[in-house]
Amino acid sequence: MLALIGGTGLSRLAGLEVTARRAVRTPFGEPSCPVTLGDLGGAPVAFMARHGYGHTIAPHEVNYRANIWALREVGVRQIIAIASVGGIRVDCAPGALVLPDQIIDYTWGREATFFEGPDQPVRHIDFTHPYSQSVRQRISQAARDCAEPLIEGATYGATQGPRLETAAEITRMERDGCDLVGMTGMPEASLAREIELEYAALAVVVNHAAGRASSVNGVHLDSLAGTLEAAMARVHRVLAAAARRG
Ligand code: HPA
Repeated sequence: MLALIGGTGLSRLAGLEVTARRAVRTPFGEPSCPVTLGDLGGAPVAFMARHGYGHTIAPHEVNYRANIWALREVGVRQIIAIASVGGIRVDCAPGALVLPDQIIDYTWGREATFFEGPDQPVRHIDFTHPYSQSVRQRISQAARDCAEPLIEGATYGATQGPRLETAAEITRMERDGCDLVGMTGMPEASLAREIELEYAALAVVVNHAAGRASSVNGVHLDSLAGTLEAAMARVHRVLAAAARRG
């Protein structure tokens, strides 16, 4: 089954015919919310709101381990994570939908692995290509199905938040090779890899990153909601098409 993890602006999934809600207990504590099971465009999907249905859980407080574990518990094999981001690369402007292919992780202090504790052997995972190629293809074909422009290939820089970045931090991130900046992409992606779930992210650019273009003098937080809302209608179309491609 395919799961969709909704981020800011997507705590409910329009068009989802809900069939069940499952409150899942995990060895890692409480997920952000019960998993919603339903039917999207004729295909079964699971949905989870990363920040909770009331959007009350900050990026650094999300229990990523419990969320990913809960999705596997209900039978999920593939995940599309929706993430709102700031755009660093010039073509990643507000409103753009982007399919990243790489990650740089700047987060700290988050519970970032299932493989720890006294009775766990040390284990490593390969993370050279952090996103699943088959889920990326599924998203890319879905965007083509509904003629939605999608920028393919970008490096997602995951910051700690909840504050936005300084202009100098964005300049450093650009030097590092980041094209996008967001707060929730890690450790979500690596946790999914640890338990062999196929995971890719669909990023929605909601603002120019700090110090860039219209954000040269600051990120206008009050205009983000409008950009996000307009883009979410397109995101919904792509997700429904992706569900149909199962
Ligand atoms: N920085 C970090 N996370 C974000 C941003 C940003 O500019 N916009 C949306 N999520």
